[in-house]
Amino acid sequence: MDAIQQIEPWFDREEADALQRYMLSGGWVTEFRQTEEFERRLAEFTGAGHCIVTTSGTISLTLALLALDIGPGDEVIVPDLTMIATPNAVRLAGARPVFVDVEAATLNIDIAQVAAAVTPATRAVIHVSLNGRSNDITALRALCDGHNLRLLEDAAQSLGSFSDAHHLGTIGDMGCLSFSPPKVISTGQGGAVLTNDDDLAIRARKIKDFGRTRGGHDVHDTIGYNFKFTDVQGVIGIEQMKKLPWRLNRKKEIWSLYRERLAGVNGVEFVETDLDRVAPWFMDIYLDDRDGLAAHLHRLGIGSRPVYPPIHRQEAYDLGHLSFPVSERFSSRGLWLPSSSQLSDDQVARVCGGVREFFSA
Ligand SMILES: Cc1ncc(COP(=O)(O)O)c(C=O)c1O
Repeated sequence: MDAIQQIEPWFDREEADALQRYMLSGGWVTEFRQTEEFERRLAEFTGAGHCIVTTSGTISLTLALLALDIGPGDEVIVPDLTMIATPNAVRLAGARPVFVDVEAATLNIDIAQVAAAVTPATRAVIHVSLNGRSNDITALRALCDGHNLRLLEDAAQSLGSFSDAHHLGTIGDMGCLSFSPPKVISTGQGGAVLTNDDDLAIRARKIKDFGRTRGGHDVHDTIGYNFKFTDVQGVIGIEQMKKLPWRLNRKKEIWSLYRERLAGVNGVEFVETDLDRVAPWFMDIYLDDRDGLAAHLHRLGIGSRPVYPPIHRQEAYDLGHLSFPVSERFSSRGLWLPSSSQLSDDQVARVCGGVREFFSA
């Protein structure tokens, strides 16, 4: 039987044909009209006033921090349970990440603990909508406003997910998306900054293009870098955007299938997920013997992946003396099951059969 991967990107004929047309059109490959069209579609889909694409989600977060003028001497509060790019972007901007625990209901940053972590050096909070789920970002926004802090949303996993009426990534001062291969749509690598603030958008565009005051000339009034996209990625992104609604719907169907088929399995837990607002990116379950189940699925040719280690336990951060109990509990028990939107119902049934077999052994 064919192996089932935990996640796979999905490109097909439309991307190949569009790329061929583009390459034969004499384009310069670097970012231009195709990139602008991809940005326009992302802004329209998310409702953001501005969308600025960059080389990756990590660089989008870094660019947003630089546009917000955050750097050396500044502290930025981040959740302990996230992909390591969140705090690493803070480091890349020259600031210091300060970690707080997540809340069990959503695995988002614990807002009460954010309040307790604010110091005179705090300049910003990064909210991570892990797996498309969100908590009360409006309350976090009010807390930030009360302390004169910037709010940045890491919505790398949240394209197609909403907090009430707002697309995630559009509630804070700035928000970031990622188009790396495991994401619901991908451009190979890539990321985007969303904002409704005209001045921040202008700053971010300048910083991503060497600090140029306008395109194509060499007058610089700001320190900037080269975080530019390419039109080859733009072409792929436009085709992927056309498929996005179908894929988001399919992710919700796959989530529902897992829930139904694993409902009676004692020992498997899910995080509550409101499919009216959330398009789950990865199908996450929580159980005691996570590594045992992963090994069992591997023997059946089924891929899975453990949820991120807590950041404070990563050697890179050397903060093992700290303790964040919710982050530790969900990290040690969390497993991502096969999650690609191209999974068939039969494949999901095969994965669920493997999980049931493990629990009945
Ligand atoms: C929450 C989160 N933030 C940031 C990133 C970084 O994005 P990229 O891989 O595009 O740099 C990821 C990537 O998976 C992520 O999941």
